[in-house]
Amino acid sequence: MKNTPILIIGKNGKTGSRVNQKLQARGYETRAVSRSTNPSFDWENQDTWKSAIKGTRIAYVTYQPDLAVPQAEDTIRQFVKVARENGLEHIVLLSGRGEEGAQRAENVLMESAISWNIVRCSWFNQNFSESFMLQGILSGELILPEADTLEPFIDADDIADVVVATLTEPGHKNRLYELTGPRALNFAQCVNEISAALGRSIKYTAVPIDDYIHALKEQGQPEDLQWLIHLLFTVVFDGRNCEVMTGVEEALNRPPTDFKTYIQKTIKSGVWDEVLQKQASA
Ligand SMILES: NC(=O)c1ccc[n+]([C@@H]2O[C@H](COP(=O)([O-])OP(=O)(O)OC[C@H]3O[C@@H](n4cnc5c(N)ncnc54)[C@H](OP(=O)(O)O)[C@@H]3O)[C@@H](O)[C@H]2O)c1
Repeated sequence: MKNTPILIIGKNGKTGSRVNQKLQARGYETRAVSRSTNPSFDWENQDTWKSAIKGTRIAYVTYQPDLAVPQAEDTIRQFVKVARENGLEHIVLLSGRGEEGAQRAENVLMESAISWNIVRCSWFNQNFSESFMLQGILSGELILPEADTLEPFIDADDIADVVVATLTEPGHKNRLYELTGPRALNFAQCVNEISAALGRSIKYTAVPIDDYIHALKEQGQPEDLQWLIHLLFTVVFDGRNCEVMTGVEEALNRPPTDFKTYIQKTIKSGVWDEVLQKQASA
């Protein structure tokens, strides 16, 4: 199996990039794809799927923009069909907790003739450093829709370790791992911990959801992003996901990474360093 490339859909993503790097470090050949690679892979263009899949037997799949969107179930159904016709035997699918649309898409894979793993995750720590919340941390004020619920944020390195185990080790087939970090925190607590560790003031401001969506509209953000943020902050953050789960221990026999450890490694990476960021964007 080491000579057959492992397909990774989402090459530059928060988890795909880590899975790619960890597999290569263990000597596995990979084929990591997205819209900007050759061969390319675009969820919105089925014509790109076959050449990306051909010649691979197992795959790590991250869906865009989010498995919770209404079209995800049908797209995953089509994808599983094309995957099977082109020789894929095992799919590891990244999913989100407490999202009905995501769970419908998971079912499509679980009920297919392909062997599977579902890696169902809480919110990623890396949303604060590699995604839409980074700008708020750098500017000194993170503005989000009101949500006082607790979320057991998971580290993307833990997700990647679980994914690599499911792709390369025996004993995981057809298992769903529900992954969370070890502590549930609200956004204010996360920002306080980051601010204290960085030694600079970062304010957390909660605004009504409609004001936040209006601001996204004004900035020209895509409608599916607006829809998704609305779903997350009105439905998914209703308290249903605050429970800490044991998926990391089940898959890896070790505890998940604490938010404080994430903060320390992110500080070392320089991504929250205002001066470095200004130099990089100059
Ligand atoms: N963030 C969270 O807290 C969280 C929690 C639970 C589950 N999830 C799930 O995580 C998944 C995303 O995984 P991730 O966070 O590892 O990835 P990510 O960081 O969101 O991936 C970003 C990459 O996706 C590629 N991309 C964008 N649109 C694409 C398209 N139409 N077709 C193919 N590639 C496309 C882009 O690369 P190119 O420009 O090169 O195409 C971009 O660099 C989603 O399905 C979401 O439901 C996220």
